[in-house]
Amino acid sequence: MTARIIGIGAYAPETIVTNEDLSKIVETSDEWIRSRTGIRERRISTQEGTSDLAAKAARKALANAGVRPEELDIIILGTSSPDCNYPSDACTVQAAIGAVNAVAFDISAACAGFIFALNIVQGFFAAGIYKTALIIGAETLSKVTDWSDRGTCVLFGDGAGAAVLQAAETGVIDMTMGSDGTKGSALACTSRTLGNFLTGTKPELGFMTMDGREVFSFAVRKIPESVEYLLEKTGTSREEIKYYVLHQANERIVEAAARRLKEPMSKFPMTIGKYGNTSTASIPLLLDDMVRQDMLKPGDKILLSGFGAGMTWGAVLMEWTLGA
Ligand code: UT7
Repeated sequence: MTARIIGIGAYAPETIVTNEDLSKIVETSDEWIRSRTGIRERRISTQEGTSDLAAKAARKALANAGVRPEELDIIILGTSSPDCNYPSDACTVQAAIGAVNAVAFDISAACAGFIFALNIVQGFFAAGIYKTALIIGAETLSKVTDWSDRGTCVLFGDGAGAAVLQAAETGVIDMTMGSDGTKGSALACTSRTLGNFLTGTKPELGFMTMDGREVFSFAVRKIPESVEYLLEKTGTSREEIKYYVLHQANERIVEAAARRLKEPMSKFPMTIGKYGNTSTASIPLLLDDMVRQDMLKPGDKILLSGFGAGMTWGAVLMEWTLGA
């Protein structure tokens, strides 16, 4: 048994923040942001938390799949900006949508979170443990962003995407995942610094910090590597791949990956311009966009690939099944 996607849904907060808006709070320009990243604008949440965005995306995915919440066996939510340390956002979503029969938990794999969630579900399906799953990538990175740091604040946005998965004969063909904890400091966000009565210090909340160049070169190396690994392992030719659905971090990263893979840019759809980098939400947001533009047909082979803090990376080769 493998995992097939039977429903997709996404939600992004209504408030749009343009590059022009950001040029009023930090020393930057629309020209710099567009030419270095491809980002024109992003959505920023003013009222809703990660679990609110996640629940909205989840309801859309369930409606799209025609699955009732109580039919779900498992909910996995990937996020690097949860509302609380606990309860998990997955449990909050479970309560919000009434998925009374599901086990629910969060995973922390940053921008590779949606891929990791998909692969975990695939494992449960292959083992015959569960049959129906909801996976969600959701972020409100705006709350951990240092809005005085132009090196990071222009890049990220808030949003959520979800998929309903069913155990089936066709769907995920193969996958790969990896981590390298020695590079953890390249992209980090401490949730709270140590503070207690022994040290006499108070805990402080941390913000995201990033070595942009290091992450850039890591991504440009890892995406083609994991894609090529999967193509070779499964005996799949490049011609068979309809689209490469990559984590939306930077247009230049996608272009560099396309060059290394010797594939045309037409096979690399993008939403980075309108959403910015939404971390683990970017792949399902992109898939949702592609579905709404009628770009995917049952039987199409697509390759998903994500990378992020940890460092983490993962890729999935799958046959598209939605609409069958
Ligand atoms: O999901 C994974 C998360 N993160 C990523 O994927 C990020 C990967 N990295 C990147 O996308 C790119 O490295 C950035 C977009 C972050 C930066 O682009 P870059 O071409 O690597 O620029 P840089 O860091 O080498 O900086 C070039 C210049 C510097 O000025 P000097 O030292 O040359 O005078 C920066 O201070 O650009 C400056 N700079 C800015 N200028 C205007 C950095 N940020 C900005 C800004 N506006 N927002």
